[in-house]
Amino acid sequence: MKRILFILALWLLTIPVFSQNVIHAGSDGKSWTIFTRSAVYQLRVENDEVRMVNYGNKTLAEKTSRPLGAEIPVRGGYVTSAPLLEVIFPDGVRDIELTCQMYEIINIDGYETLKITQNDKYYPLEVISYITSIPEYDLIEKWVEVRNTGRRGNIKVENLLSGSVFLPKDAYELTHYAGVWGYEFTPQTTKLTPGTKTLQTKDFKSYGSSSFLVRPEGETDPYSGKVWFGSVKYSGNWRIDFEKSFNGPVQIVGGMNFWDQELNLKPGSSFTTPHIVFGYTEQGTEGVTHNLTSYIREKLLPPAHREKIRPVLYNSWYATTFNVNEEHQLALAQTAKEIGVEMFVIDDGWFKGRVNDRAGLGDWTVDTNKFPNGLQPMIEKINALGLDFGIWIEPEMVNPNSDLYRAHPDWVFHFPNRQRHEGRNQLILNLAREDVWQYLYQSFYKLLKENNIKFIKWDMNKAMADPGFPSAPLDEQRAVRIKYMENLYRLVETLRKDFPDVWFENCSSGGGRIDMAMNSRFDFNWTSDNTDPVDRIFIQDSYLTLFPASTMISWVTHEDWHRQNPPLEFKFDVCMAGVLGVGYDITKWSDTEKDIAKTKIARYKEIRHTVQTGMPYRLVSPYGNNRSILQFVNKDQSESIVFVYHLAEYPNNMTSGTQRSPAVQLRGLLPGTQYTIEGLEGVYSGDYLMKTGIEIPLRGSFKSGIYRIIKQ
Ligand code: GLA
Repeated sequence: MKRILFILALWLLTIPVFSQNVIHAGSDGKSWTIFTRSAVYQLRVENDEVRMVNYGNKTLAEKTSRPLGAEIPVRGGYVTSAPLLEVIFPDGVRDIELTCQMYEIINIDGYETLKITQNDKYYPLEVISYITSIPEYDLIEKWVEVRNTGRRGNIKVENLLSGSVFLPKDAYELTHYAGVWGYEFTPQTTKLTPGTKTLQTKDFKSYGSSSFLVRPEGETDPYSGKVWFGSVKYSGNWRIDFEKSFNGPVQIVGGMNFWDQELNLKPGSSFTTPHIVFGYTEQGTEGVTHNLTSYIREKLLPPAHREKIRPVLYNSWYATTFNVNEEHQLALAQTAKEIGVEMFVIDDGWFKGRVNDRAGLGDWTVDTNKFPNGLQPMIEKINALGLDFGIWIEPEMVNPNSDLYRAHPDWVFHFPNRQRHEGRNQLILNLAREDVWQYLYQSFYKLLKENNIKFIKWDMNKAMADPGFPSAPLDEQRAVRIKYMENLYRLVETLRKDFPDVWFENCSSGGGRIDMAMNSRFDFNWTSDNTDPVDRIFIQDSYLTLFPASTMISWVTHEDWHRQNPPLEFKFDVCMAGVLGVGYDITKWSDTEKDIAKTKIARYKEIRHTVQTGMPYRLVSPYGNNRSILQFVNKDQSESIVFVYHLAEYPNNMTSGTQRSPAVQLRGLLPGTQYTIEGLEGVYSGDYLMKTGIEIPLRGSFKSGIYRIIKQ
């Protein structure tokens, strides 16, 4: 009997977990309905081609509607929407005519996925489109595979995006996040008028991610209302078009940017695009935040560290820049330990020849002038203090003044007869080359193998220029950026597999390359090199709209970009809304400063579980207000942390009594439960805190408070 039960259990294990039942096929096999928690997405075959019918509120499924456009809009026939696919066949024909062949509902990583295969009516082109429903986060994910099924001749792919959706006919506003170095994630809202609004990167840098929100015009309630949103899961050049026809729907189509890019599909070969995520919520911007940040935190972050509480960090960059040496770093580590830091990270300047930013990148061995005994003996001393050790690297780059470049000047992207455009005195290594990949892999494998390193800050400081690979076959030369990204991902993934205990931080001159694809490979993002606490409040407010607090490293530093001299306590409070770090030259700190740091870090350790794993609520945005208020609520709603930052005491620069900051209504608590607020008198019901709210007892500019709300 036991044996039978055992065999039965084994058999059950072989059955895929497939219980969601969120994708339904019509009985004729020619229509499909996909559900998420609040949305429906419908498709139907019409005139042989798969068409998209609806995307939005579930009630749309009750009525038969006319399709809004093709599921895979192609260049061919009348061009009524932005094409997702544009090819040239070997005989010069540039027109595609797709016809639906078959469909399957498959399971990918536990999620139902609709897989539809279409073929060109005449040419050997197969197009497979995938739509996964991730119902609990109100997301669908799309991607496309194209295949040359012929025996002769390449199919030239001039454009291949990941997915397209059409929104119901209406007037809409788009919000996206743009920026430059130091001012990442600045929200931009614009009306979508007839024509095309394109968001894109052409040089691998975005400073604001590809995430976007589209709302019906005039709707601004942060907590309710329809929002279509999304993001491209790609760290190379990406592009999203928002195309509005004069009297028709709005189309959103995005994926890799095929600007100066083409693929030549050889007979028998195929290509699969990165994924694009689309979401639909009726909970306003807050719904977007909850779906995106929960999805990233619970499903996307590298599994090895997903559930782990993030350590308090020290980073040497603002304290020592390139001027690092063993004695001073040990002194910094000593003080870091005293104030409660857990991970000590040496930033730039530790490797051979790296006395400034004009030399050294590419030669990844320790500078023995600065560290005569190598790194490991120093790391042992740091470990003996009770601290883990981390280090900065910039794998993708090389300084012309380096042994690597002198030996391999052809290993960088370049065009013959053309200038090599340096940025910060550096060039980009051509990671599309296997020998470059091998060199980088060996270098960092050795570094991590020989030294007890537990944290890597992976930087990328130069924008892409001169993307030439002269020794590659001519018909592959415009696909080099695609290969580069594949190899970059492979490098991170291979190192992570070899060293599963190591944390990885993603940096690109601050937040120049933050996206969901990076977040599936890196534990953290360095959001901005701007560590001024006031600017940081704005950057963090936007970042936390899209990404979880557990991925946002934030350092307390001496930087004061607007000469406001905010107090140290205020700086700590700003950084405590993410993963807390310290970046001062703390060997110069007075006892008072050390005491403040000690108290703040101890406090952070008490509240970080809720900050790093809780649900975020942006109660007051710093944009257009005199203060910023953020709230985090833990999973069982028994604890909540509220961060309040006063930029100015009075709203609207007015001093009349009625212009004092109003009470703030909290969110996400249990209405019938009693709570206390540390530091404030009284016991309050969740209902009271959410409907009447609390007046924050703060006065003056650059004053902050952290309030811990605990269930009784
Ligand atoms: C970039 C990063 C900084 C720092 C320096 C080191 O600018 O964004 O945080 O690591 O490089 O050179």
